[in-house]
Amino acid sequence: MEKLEAALAKARQMRQQAMGTRRPVTPGEADKSRPESRADAWIDAFQEIVLDPARLERNRITALAGGREATPYDMLRSRSLRFMREKEWNRLAITSPGAACGKTTIAVNLALSLARQKDLKVMLFDLDLRRPALHRVLGQAPSVSFHEVLTDRASFQDNGRRIGDNLVVAMNAGPARMPAEILQAERTAEILDEIERRWQPDIMIFDTSPLLATDDNVGFLSNVDCALLVAAAEKTTLPNIDICEKELAQLTNVLGVVLNKCRYPDTLAGYDYEYYG
Ligand SMILES: Nc1ncnc2c1ncn2[C@@H]1O[C@H](COP(=O)(O)OP(=O)(O)O)[C@@H](O)[C@H]1O
Ligand SMILES: [Mg+2]
Repeated sequence: MEKLEAALAKARQMRQQAMGTRRPVTPGEADKSRPESRADAWIDAFQEIVLDPARLERNRITALAGGREATPYDMLRSRSLRFMREKEWNRLAITSPGAACGKTTIAVNLALSLARQKDLKVMLFDLDLRRPALHRVLGQAPSVSFHEVLTDRASFQDNGRRIGDNLVVAMNAGPARMPAEILQAERTAEILDEIERRWQPDIMIFDTSPLLATDDNVGFLSNVDCALLVAAAEKTTLPNIDICEKELAQLTNVLGVVLNKCRYPDTLAGYDYEYYG
């Protein structure tokens, strides 16, 4: 285990050295260290989208405005942020054992919750390249897909869309061809580093594919600092969660397991999850 942790730390250090800069982990740090403000740069660069509250509600996206229905995601935000800051991590993947556990729902809500902290710059990427869903949940029809950015066919500025001043989402219009090859490509790692170096996000969230279905994540997860494992209480068995957590721990640091879709009497209807780190 210690060997594994050392290997992960070393991989991360090499990634940072390759980027040439120390990434900001504290909100606002980059604003002070750079002449032009990141906020202005983001506003100039990325086209803004306006979300339809009724559609968000239908899709269980409850963290846009805050309040009672956002509380579980705000708690997840605080715990994830605290832990990631302690470790100086800023890239978080969201994955699950199988499909439809709630990865996309949690990724979007977590990103919106983080973005309500106005001093944080947040980026959310759709890297479930087989079943991209970010655009559907947000009610968008992107003209440029993020997988095209990763294969040098489009620029990130043409793909990224801004929600408010401090959240940028990278969506896909549909599935990519050869997703495993894209995700595991060295060029993908370079492009993510380029995006981070240029736009200086405080936190990068990656909505990824299920662990048990494909090997898409195997190569990709070396590009992130940590991951949350989302399990659906109604259909993921405990042995499956256990196997996945162990498998995930071979690939990156496991920030915690979110048990989604569990029902017990005093939860907020529909937004029930349990978190253990
Ligand atoms: N806590 C929850 N309770 C009930 N349904 C949920 C919950 N979280 C997500 N869902 C629903 O489950 C379905 C799959 O969720 P999604 O986020 O797309 O999963 P994944 O990205 O893991 O495939 C969606 O219809 C979503 O609205
Ligand atoms: Mg999804």
